[in-house]
Amino acid sequence: MASIFHPFLSAYLLLLLPLVVAQSSAGDIGVGSSIEATPDAKPWVSPSNDFAFGFHQLETNNDLFLLAIWYYKIPSRTIVWYANATRPAPTRSKVELTADRGLVLSDPQGQLIWRSVFAIRDIAFARMNDTGNFVVYGSGSEQLWESFKNPTDTMLPTQVIRRGGVLSSRHKGSNFVKGRFQFRLLADGNAVLNTINMESNLSYSPYYISETFDQANSSNSGFQVRLDEDGLFYVLRANNQRFSLNSEDVVPSADYYHRVTLTFDGVLALSRYPKSPTASNRNWSVSTTIPDNICTTRANKYGSGTCGYNNICTLKADKRPQCNCPPGYSLSDANDEYGNCQADFMQGCEADASSSRGDLYDLVELQNTDWPSSDYEVISPCTVNDCKAYCLQDCLCIVAEYNKGECFKKTLPLPYGRQDAQVNTIAFVKVRKAEFAQKNPPIISTVYEKRYRNSLMILISVFLGSSVFVNFVFVGVLCLGSSFLYHRKIKRNHSNRNGIQSSLRYFNYKELEEATNGFEEELGRGSFGIVYKGIIKTGSEDPTQVAVKKLDRVVQDMDKEFRTEVNVIAQTHHRNLVKLLGYCDEGQSRMLVYECLSNGTLASFLFGDLKPSWNQRTQIAMGIARGLCYLHEECSPQIIHCDIKPQNILLDDYYDARISDFGLSKLLGIDQSCTNTAIRGTKGYVAPEWFKTVPVTVKVDVYSFGVLLLEIVCCRRNVLMDGGEEEKAILTDWACDCFSEGTVDALVENDAEALGDKMKLERFVMVALWCIQEDISLRPSMKKVLLMLEEIIMVPALPLPCPSYISA
Ligand SMILES: *[C@@H]1O[C@H](CO)[C@@H](O)[C@H](O)[C@H]1NC(C)=O
Ligand SMILES: *[C@@H]1O[C@H](CO)[C@@H](O)[C@H](O)[C@H]1NC(C)=O
Ligand SMILES: *[C@@H]1O[C@H](CO)[C@@H](O)[C@H](O)[C@H]1NC(C)=O
Ligand SMILES: *[C@@H]1O[C@H](CO)[C@@H](O)[C@H](O)[C@H]1NC(C)=O
Ligand SMILES: *[C@@H]1O[C@H](CO)[C@@H](O)[C@H](O)[C@H]1NC(C)=O
Repeated sequence: MASIFHPFLSAYLLLLLPLVVAQSSAGDIGVGSSIEATPDAKPWVSPSNDFAFGFHQLETNNDLFLLAIWYYKIPSRTIVWYANATRPAPTRSKVELTADRGLVLSDPQGQLIWRSVFAIRDIAFARMNDTGNFVVYGSGSEQLWESFKNPTDTMLPTQVIRRGGVLSSRHKGSNFVKGRFQFRLLADGNAVLNTINMESNLSYSPYYISETFDQANSSNSGFQVRLDEDGLFYVLRANNQRFSLNSEDVVPSADYYHRVTLTFDGVLALSRYPKSPTASNRNWSVSTTIPDNICTTRANKYGSGTCGYNNICTLKADKRPQCNCPPGYSLSDANDEYGNCQADFMQGCEADASSSRGDLYDLVELQNTDWPSSDYEVISPCTVNDCKAYCLQDCLCIVAEYNKGECFKKTLPLPYGRQDAQVNTIAFVKVRKAEFAQKNPPIISTVYEKRYRNSLMILISVFLGSSVFVNFVFVGVLCLGSSFLYHRKIKRNHSNRNGIQSSLRYFNYKELEEATNGFEEELGRGSFGIVYKGIIKTGSEDPTQVAVKKLDRVVQDMDKEFRTEVNVIAQTHHRNLVKLLGYCDEGQSRMLVYECLSNGTLASFLFGDLKPSWNQRTQIAMGIARGLCYLHEECSPQIIHCDIKPQNILLDDYYDARISDFGLSKLLGIDQSCTNTAIRGTKGYVAPEWFKTVPVTVKVDVYSFGVLLLEIVCCRRNVLMDGGEEEKAILTDWACDCFSEGTVDALVENDAEALGDKMKLERFVMVALWCIQEDISLRPSMKKVLLMLEEIIMVPALPLPCPSYISA
């Protein structure tokens, strides 16, 4: 293990380094910039002028504005994103990019209307990107908030919907308040369209399902919905295969603006607009609609359908639905043609009984018309004439339908009405004869409204299943409804328990035992206990996969501390940290419930058969550095991880690094700030000071990060036990030797990509060597590490000889 002094390698002090912070460029929006809501306010425009972010004056009320993003070059305004429209901004409201609170929209009196939400507090600048994504950047150039990650009703090219992602329709074309349709990618990989019940937000079972769920082979299941720049729209399966959502005749083209919008009438429409200003057809044209025919698409047992109750849906030439009330009926709300219809006359058993006449009604015949659910009686075999007669004689019957010798009697309310050439049913609508019309039609509407609402609240199908098909089995809907309420109640009680932050969920032992199927499937064993796979169901949400960590070494009698620590962990929010969802501290059991990440640990990725690419590796390294930087510098109290190693780094859908197992050291009875009592950490990654009687500081994490960084660069473990060349057995030593001999290339032997990126390779190795300095004071802080990795500050020359590895 040769250590050579290089004359040019004299030590610089890190402290003297220049500190350049953000990488903003011309046209970016600086902190303090603002726009005032006035009709002629200048929006923030993207460099190519394609997109603008600013105030859109509402057509319905000129004194109100919506914070929105639209196409800047398209004359007829097309809005692709908007802030919460429940409270539009009055004239002279202001949106401002603040350093500490993000993007803030406040009214003229300074009252907050809306803000972008994120955790870290130092904002550097914002950018209206040419893709249509509005991004708020932090001082480390990290993306703190993106409009792409907070979509409304529209998806743009390069925007991705992940599992759990939602597009919500607006209420009407020019009313941006949330409507009742949703497009979602479920946790099981199915992309679905469904309506929601507006009172409870619960989803009805879907009217469109992509069928990209494969129970037998999860790599076949969808994991993202994507729209490419050339207009290809598809569900990406976990095995990278595509399930196309385009109509077959769509020709990909980059000459158009493409967008996918969930229209207010429930159709998911892919449309395009020519980019060239000289094009003749400067208009949006729809190339794909999902579903192909929203009127005849599957009907649910519950809910009102695309058109309201008693309304009839017909498909227009543009494949969008139109709703028409049946003869003798009119809209409950004249302004809402997609809403419910009500009869203009009195009917029903009570009304009929008050008349001595038996022939109060006529039947109006509607060809190719059907309300597929809501039959209360089926008569078979039957003739058309008998069918009509049965309905006329029955005071409950509102509509009779006849199809191939079968007669269906229906009563109010009538959902999912449709009229289409594909429908073979004839409907006969009962209408009161003009001569018997009542002068003062009683307020039927309110009676029915009440009735619908009450039954809805009970009958709503809670869309729970991990498989969509499960949802068609509506077992004991009433049970579900009440158990949902019961759970909500339980949840509320527990979340306030012991002052633990309310976003955190409390679980009792039994719940977690059930969620993990009796602690059946082990995901891994950490330094603190075993991690099990689990599935958590909460009322309205889809079941989520979780990782349940059963802590085995928690010091007893530290009830209060456990909660304090859990609280500290719960307050961390960073994209490079694994999120804590809940906990359990019942009796002797202490468990933590974390989000489950799809791509396993860094250890299996890095040391597995398929080595990650250089680019992926450097991204992962930066991610870990960001996460650690956050734990060290942004958290109060500061969190020292104490056990950074590849087994504790998890990878999400995008292979972004997420640090796990942080904040647990107190639970093990280790006082970080004082001399340690029990050696923590993992052999090969622990800093030398663990073996001495000096206080343990954040620099132990810096050391471990250095070792990890070398492993990431070289794709090998720090210590190779199985023979081989002795000088390479310990990576930290070998790396240092290579560096001092000027043979850094040897570290990445056959990795052409890394060899082609030599500057970065050297930079990363140097940073790693700084991190593993034995002298604690020479090790940089994580913030400096990050700045060096990002090439924002220079890496100073290294002091040699190499730090020698401590074999414990
Ligand atoms: C939108 O604003 C309304 C009224 O301020 C609020 O009740 C609602 O929760 C907000 N919705 C979202 C998604 O933030
Ligand atoms: C910004 O736009 C460019 C292309 O113009 C794209 O490559 C980049 O990924 C976008 N960044 C974000 C954060 O959306
Ligand atoms: C419905 O969802 C919205 C946002 O998605 C939320 O603000 C609102 O509180 C929810 N309402 C109920 C009753 O859960
Ligand atoms: C799952 O499907 C992929 C292809 O989509 C196939 O390569 C793999 O062998 C399948 N796995 C199993 C267990 O069937
Ligand atoms: C363009 O679209 C508008 C609004 O949808 C419509 O009124 C107009 O007729 C369309 N023009 C052409 C040329 O298709």
